[in-house]
Amino acid sequence: MKDKLNVLVIGSGGREHAIVKAVVNSPLAAKVFCAPSNGGISQDCQSADIPVSDLDKILDFCKAEKIDFVICGPEVPLSLGLADLLRKNNIAVYGPNKDGAQLEASKAFSKAFMQRNNIPTAIGKNFTDFESAKSYIESVPFNVVVKASGLAAGKGVIIPENKDEAISAAKDMLLNKSFGESSAEIVVEEKMEGEEASIMLIVSGKNYIMLPPSQDHKRIGEGDKGLNTGGMGAYAPAAVVTKEVEADVRQNIIQPTLNALAAEGIDYRGTLYVGIMITKQGAKVVEYNVRFGDPECQVLMPLIKSDALEILFDAACGNLDPSKCEIKDEFAATVVMTSKGYPNAYEKGKVISFPDKCPKDAYIIHSGTKRNAEGKIITSGGRVLSITATGNTLENALKKAYSLVSEISFEGAYYRKDIAHRQLARNKK
Ligand code: AMP
Ligand code: GLY
Repeated sequence: MKDKLNVLVIGSGGREHAIVKAVVNSPLAAKVFCAPSNGGISQDCQSADIPVSDLDKILDFCKAEKIDFVICGPEVPLSLGLADLLRKNNIAVYGPNKDGAQLEASKAFSKAFMQRNNIPTAIGKNFTDFESAKSYIESVPFNVVVKASGLAAGKGVIIPENKDEAISAAKDMLLNKSFGESSAEIVVEEKMEGEEASIMLIVSGKNYIMLPPSQDHKRIGEGDKGLNTGGMGAYAPAAVVTKEVEADVRQNIIQPTLNALAAEGIDYRGTLYVGIMITKQGAKVVEYNVRFGDPECQVLMPLIKSDALEILFDAACGNLDPSKCEIKDEFAATVVMTSKGYPNAYEKGKVISFPDKCPKDAYIIHSGTKRNAEGKIITSGGRVLSITATGNTLENALKKAYSLVSEISFEGAYYRKDIAHRQLARNKK
């Protein structure tokens, strides 16, 4: 193995900023780059202005800068085959090939994968024909959710109130192509009841590390009300994943999933994000993603005590040693600050004011920011910042994060004041 690695992180959000912060000071890192980066990432490493889906440009950049290792943040380049291309060119990459990326890029693929491998998930069926979908919705004895099979930037899942709404959602997707090609096929499945949690695995073939379970908050409003967003905050570890739930997940979900991937000839190396619903019948898979969650990644990276770069590189090379990954005995929380209007049309270009110093164990992670002509950091996305802190209790981590939030301002800034509310309520009992 080389002494030091030139590293390229692909992406431009809070997830990628958290990854950059976790790897940039590694003794294993030589140069660290991020493409296309953002206003905060560019303060921590060098930036390259390359769109995440321009695979050829990414490869050219890797050759020009002698990149040894690429860490891919988002799913889109993976679903286009970025990892295949880099591996073919002998560049190590953390992220699955196109075959593995189907677990996220095609919900129809992942539904069928779970069904043929007896992995616990909602009862359901895939459809390309509206009349068949309609008959199925009318005939099943349960409420359903309707999902566009392809990538839809987190918006492709409809949770209808009743069967009429479900049929009209299926019609919109299949006949009116409301998500374009992404809804040429749909999944109709049983609506599950329970509490959700995110399980993030660093996978290398059949070996894996399970990072602390986390919970995110998808809705814009307090009390988990209002429109869906990319995620308004997260915390870890999530105690709702008890020792018993964890054992159930390892035995009945993770092991069968990794065995099935190997049996189907998929050499999976990268993050496997298993979204679970903890139901009365045990944990069931809601979805697989092939990348770290955002904002879950922001709380997980600061909890890794070992050298994160070494772990991700070992996973990419097929040498993962799960015993090498030490996790801090702490809690982490992140509060996402958003632009006025988000998740609908939102304002951009607002100058952000930051405190002079960031307190110990707290992190200003940039999600949608850039630097303007005068060098000032301005807002450039719906989710602007992911303010993160760790602490010896969840309450302390949240206190530190919120105290830092109160020192940051931009016009129209919004954030939820109740991150981790379910767990805080349980802690009080
Ligand atoms: P997905 O993109 O498949 O994770 O779906 C987005 C969100 O929709 C999930 O995080 C859940 O909150 C919800 N969801 C998806 N599938 C189901 C289901 N079968 N039952 C209940 N809620 C669901
Ligand atoms: N926070 C949910 C996701 O990244 O998909």
